[in-house]
Amino acid sequence: MHYFRRKGWEIAEKHATPESVFLNRRALLSGGAALGAGAILPSLRAFGQEADPSASLYPAKRNELYKIEREVTPEKVNAAYNNFYEFGLSKNIAKAAEALKVRPWTIKVDGMVEKAREIGIDDLIKSVTLEERLYRHRCVEAWSMTVPWTGFPLKALVEAAKPLSSAKYVRFETFMDPKVAPEQRGFWPWPYVEGLTMAEAMNDLSFMVTGAYGKPMAKSFGAPLRLHTPWKYGFKHIKSIVKVSFTDQRPTTFWEASGPREYGFWANVNPKVPHPRWSQANEEVLGTGERQPTTLFNGYGEFVADMYKGLEKEPLWM
Ligand code: MTE
Repeated sequence: MHYFRRKGWEIAEKHATPESVFLNRRALLSGGAALGAGAILPSLRAFGQEADPSASLYPAKRNELYKIEREVTPEKVNAAYNNFYEFGLSKNIAKAAEALKVRPWTIKVDGMVEKAREIGIDDLIKSVTLEERLYRHRCVEAWSMTVPWTGFPLKALVEAAKPLSSAKYVRFETFMDPKVAPEQRGFWPWPYVEGLTMAEAMNDLSFMVTGAYGKPMAKSFGAPLRLHTPWKYGFKHIKSIVKVSFTDQRPTTFWEASGPREYGFWANVNPKVPHPRWSQANEEVLGTGERQPTTLFNGYGEFVADMYKGLEKEPLWM
């Protein structure tokens, strides 16, 4: 593995693709190429428009509690700039992600629960009420978007799972299929894994996403089910989830296993704590050509700050 030793601040930040760079120097080159390609690509959303049994449930009613002061990032911009490393190390993975079959799709719920079970994505969607939320999305690579996600509170899934009182964490896992996801043939610690504490999972902001821009979500966005915790860096937002497990052991996440000196479990947004290789003080707002100051907890402190009282000794900001 090449470890790209140049410091983050030596690279123009708008060209930084740090996680890819960490993984492989080639990614820096392909990431740069993708930036150029993104500008001339037509909307890639068309790739995500195959028949979807849940399509009639969109658009869902917007939950006005989560106000946003920024413009929604145009779908076209979002669709041409994704991180989904299973399908490639550039931002331009939408076409490759089409290889993923998202029906039938089963999610296993297991671990410290009253009764482990499997549920089909459409039965899961029918068992909840979908809503739309405008959320900010801040990547650890110092870019951001504002996205109209559709989904349901993670809390609903947790309650339906009936976890035992001894469960302390929720662990999420992405599909594993190297035949359709070429990067999974490599040596990184696949499948992609993420985790939250039970308190974080029960927080009102924690959202299971099934759609975006008023329709079922494109495969490149993580169809048919991904997570969004808007006060955390985007790498927590695990895509294409197949397993949700309850455990008393803190899960080792994909990025912790890949680069423990740079990425941690908590990953709360904090402009004052730089990444070891670049500043987190501000962010490129994709689609605008502008940089804006980054805010503590990505601006969601009123909803989440209390959860971290007494945990000051933990590496909450990486
Ligand atoms: N989930 C999986 N399975 N694989 C990934 O590579 N990348 C993460 C996260 N979830 C990733 C993933 C990172 S680094 C970010 S910033 C967001 O997805 C990107 O989401 P977006 O492409 O919808 O902007």
